[in-house]
Amino acid sequence: MREKIIIDTDPGQDDAIAIFLALAAEDRLETLGVCAVAGNVPVVQTTANALRIMDVAGRRAPVYQGAEGPLVYELETAEFVCGPDGMDGAGLPGPVSVAEDGHAVDFIIRTLRAADDASITLCALGPLTNIALAFRLAADVKAKVKRIVVMGGAMNLGNITPAAEFNFYVDPHAASVVFNAGIPIVMMGLNITHKAICTHEQVARFAASETATGRSINGMLTRPRPASLGSVGHPVHDMCVIAYLLWPELFSGRDCDVQIDASDGPLRGRSTIDWNNRLKKPGNALVIDTIEPQTLFDRAIEKISILS
Ligand code: BDR
Ligand code: CA
Repeated sequence: MREKIIIDTDPGQDDAIAIFLALAAEDRLETLGVCAVAGNVPVVQTTANALRIMDVAGRRAPVYQGAEGPLVYELETAEFVCGPDGMDGAGLPGPVSVAEDGHAVDFIIRTLRAADDASITLCALGPLTNIALAFRLAADVKAKVKRIVVMGGAMNLGNITPAAEFNFYVDPHAASVVFNAGIPIVMMGLNITHKAICTHEQVARFAASETATGRSINGMLTRPRPASLGSVGHPVHDMCVIAYLLWPELFSGRDCDVQIDASDGPLRGRSTIDWNNRLKKPGNALVIDTIEPQTLFDRAIEKISILS
């Protein structure tokens, strides 16, 4: 049986590659919807980007526009990393397809309410605003979630600040709501995603597939990147979430208590991970700490090559 998923996202190059992988893996994953949230760029643009991704891939999942900004803080975006439209290097035209009517949070609530208990996986690739809003507005829907696989946080250094990873930094209150929702969580932090870097040879293979999708991925993974972000090459952070659903054997981790700092200071967005269970609390997340990037990219390249 295919796993039912909702992708919540702020495309973003790495979000785009994650969505391509999910669409290509339709034999394993049923993408019920793609919910755009403000993050890398404002939500009007992340929504347009989700549509551009569908258009080039030649696949269709309903796209919904979601929250315009975090629960409490002003929105901070990341054009300095992603470029003015959030998908620098992709070389894609504006969208042809259009978003669905209605708000992404309403879609999440409606879809979960109609589902069986513990039957839908939420794939969180951006700030957790939409998902936190859904849980706050309709706490009953939490019972319908099988698990949430999150790209966010870090076991050690941050990227947007010394302490914090971007998605948690942008909306730490939302991250805290989600991590304390009592739902199984798998956490892909920077400690893992900074290892998910395609080799030059693998990047070239995306283009060698001679598809529009492959060329756009090649463009996104060869664009210039600020050196201050703490990695050599482009980490394909968000693709780890979808890869985990498809190939969990390429990852391992440990159940830990994870709390997110929402204070308005230097620790904003920091994820504190009780790796050694000092607090004697039950874990609220499976924190991933090993990955096999070479195999992961080899499989992803092959899978994505079936798209247009
Ligand atoms: C995360 O922040 C975004 O810029 C990426 O798309 C990813 O979700 C990495 O910190
Ligand atoms: Ca993202």
